[in-house]
This record gives sequence, structure tokens and C-alpha cells, in this order.
Amino acid sequence: MRTQVGIVGAGPAGLLLSHLLARQGIESVVLESRSRAYVEKRVRAGVLEHPTVELLRGVGLAERMDREGLPHGGISLRFDGGDHRIDFADLVGRGIVVYGQQEVVKDLIAARLAAGGDLRFEVSEVTLDGITSDPVIGFVDADGQRRELHCDVIAGCDGFHGISRAAVPGEVFDRQYPFAWLGILAEAAPTHEELVYANHPNGFALYSMRSPEVTRLYLQVPPDTNADDWSDARIWDELQLRLAADGFSINEGPLLEKGVTGMRSFVSEPMRHGKLFLAGDAAHIVPPTGAKGMNLAIADVRMLADALIGYLHEKDESGVDAYSDTCLRRVWRAEHFSWWMTSMLHNFPDEDAFTRRLQLSQLRYTVSSRAAATSLAENYVGLPHGAAL
Ligand code: APR
Ligand code: PHB
Repeated sequence: MRTQVGIVGAGPAGLLLSHLLARQGIESVVLESRSRAYVEKRVRAGVLEHPTVELLRGVGLAERMDREGLPHGGISLRFDGGDHRIDFADLVGRGIVVYGQQEVVKDLIAARLAAGGDLRFEVSEVTLDGITSDPVIGFVDADGQRRELHCDVIAGCDGFHGISRAAVPGEVFDRQYPFAWLGILAEAAPTHEELVYANHPNGFALYSMRSPEVTRLYLQVPPDTNADDWSDARIWDELQLRLAADGFSINEGPLLEKGVTGMRSFVSEPMRHGKLFLAGDAAHIVPPTGAKGMNLAIADVRMLADALIGYLHEKDESGVDAYSDTCLRRVWRAEHFSWWMTSMLHNFPDEDAFTRRLQLSQLRYTVSSRAAATSLAENYVGLPHGAAL
């Protein structure tokens, strides 16, 4: 088998890359170890920042998002008994769209299949060879046949637990947080139109949603938490307590999903070795507090698609040579923002009184100073793709 770009992983990064390349006449094959049903059902975050929304619109992927996504013009920060709205529309003139990551994945798969794209699910034993000369991806197809895919370049879009990162020598930056998030998806109508981030003495809580019928909620829990130890009643009680505010109540309903997500910051530099390019979670992880994970994956592949178009169409190497450094600028901005939001909003188990006072001061400043609120808003709605960072 031969193609121009061999893509490992059918998450948002791999699928969008394949779509962007196809629009410019570049062939790719996407190899995914899980089934189509699995990747379409995997529940992840659900905030699309402004540049993500604009990109999806510009490349013909926004029809359902524009119909079903929920545009939001702000968020609330809740702490010390008070509720404070950060008005994105007023501060930066842009907003976000709440639309589940798995909905983006479904739209991408549908678009690739409609265009005759080669997506292979349930492949196994994936190997990467010839990375600095003639790349070859070895794999066993869903029918049990061993195959070799020869390509001009490989895109490692196989997420944090994939194989691509190990093939790129370099340096790793890692930080783990002393807590995790217990997330639920509930069949209960949202009672409030925007997201609420709450800092409470019992720990952080987040109020989010997926649709007019489905609420998405999170609780800070110890890192070794087993979701089964939390009964539905205990989860609802804790959410009601941590998110409490005047005139605010949460509708309860049957749980559609319950799971624990670890929190870490991670960057692997550089994002390229020879003809292998990393994109998305394969190269970096952010804690979910800033809602940046999928948005960063999308910014990476936009940059990578442009670089590969120049390289494969015109033998222009300037884009591929700049890819890693340019992406890492945006990656580190998102790493900082996500670390900052995480630090400001969570309870740290061994936090001393001094650190707690600093945290409260940061929260008060963020909601009372227009300059500070604008900085949060600008990062949350997403700095423009291509911004000098
Ligand atoms: N071979 C083929 N596919 C693989 C392999 C492998 N060896 N290892 C992992 N994969 C697949 C995974 O099953 C997954 O579907 O690669 C895909 C990677 O997709 P994501 O994890 O969704 O990563 P990415 O596309 O970079 O999107 C980043 O995902 O984790 C969230 O918060 C994160 O929203 C962000 C987004
Ligand atoms: C979500 O809706 O799943 C969500 C929203 C905001 C975040 C993280 C997750 O910061």
C-alpha cells in the first residue's frame, strides 16, 4: 500500500488532518486501533474555542455544530459565597460553542467517508519504520491481514497512550496534580445557560452541559478515586453543595456516564523527528480546567496541514521545518493557561494558609479588574490561530 500521509489515530487530530489534506488534493490513510463505535461514543470535553469554530465553518464541517451546538457568551466563577460572570462578548467580542468532542468526531468520520476517505478501524500491531528515510507503517488490518503502508510522511495523532511519541527523541516536561475529576453525564435539563467553575472548601466543581436535555458535571476528587465508590446520591449532594448560589439549583436525573479523569500537564519536545510529525495529545496534555485539549489538537493539525501542503505540492520545506517551534508556542500558552486555571480553582491537599490567601486574591482580582478578566476571556475563547505568542 502507498499513500502520501500515513495518519496514526482517528481522534479529532488525525481525522481533521485527513480532511484538511483531502481538500488540497493530498491522499492519506487513517489507522485506528479502536472500533468506529468506540471512538464515536468516547465522552470527552465539549468546549470549542472561537478559532476552532471558525476553522470548522471554513472547511465545511459546521452544519450540525451550527444547528445543535450551544453558543455561550461567558462563564461564571463561583467562590467565597459569591458568583461572578466573565462576559466574553463584552470583554473580547467573541464566544465559545459547547458541542461534545464525540460529536465533532462523528461529523469528521461522516465527512471523510462521504468523500471516499480511507479510514481503517480496529487495526493492531502498528509499527513505524524508516522515519528518517522512507517511512513505512506496519499494521494488522481488521481482517487479520498484515500490511505495510509506505508514505511520504507519518502523522502521529495517536493520543497520549499511542506509539508515535516514543519514536521522537527529545525532552519531556511533566506535572501531575494531587487530584482528579469525577465526571458525570446526566439526563437532566440544564438550569443555567453557561458554564460555572466553582472553588469550594470541599473542592472544585464544574457545571457544564451538552444539550437542552443533558447536563455534564464534574467534582474534584482524590487522584486514586474509584468512580464506583461514589453513589449517584453522593455525587448529587456534593454537586449541590459545591455549586450552591442564590437562585441557582441543579436538576438531577439518571446518569448516562460516570468516570474519573486524571489531571496532568505534559509536553514532549520537539514535535517532529525526520518524517514523523506529532499532533494533539500524542505531544501534549493539559488538565481539563481550561477546556483546551481538543482545541490545541485542532490548532496543531491546521498548522501541520498547511506545512505538508507546501512540502508535498511544492517541495517547500519552510513550513515543516517551522512546525514544531511554531506549535510549541501555542502549546505552552495553553499549558500556562490550563495550569493557572487549575491552580486558581482547586483545593490543594497540603495547601498552607499563605497559598490559600494568594489563591483567593487571584480569584478576586480576576473578577474585579477588567484587565485581568480580559486576559482570562482572551485565553478561554482562544487566541487567533497564527497569533504571535
Ligand atoms: N495505533 C492506532 N491508533 C491508536 C494507537 C495505535 N497504536 N494508539 C492510540 N490510538 C488511537 C486512540 O484509540 C485514539 O482514538 O489514537 C486516537 C487518539 O485520539 P485522541 O486521544 O482523541 O487524541 P487527539 O486526536 O490528539 O485529540 C485530543 O482528545 O484526549 C482528548 O482532551 C483531549 O480533547 C483532546 C483530544
Ligand atoms: C465539558 O463540558 O466537558 C467541559 C467544559 C469545560 C471544561 C472541561 C470540560 O473546562
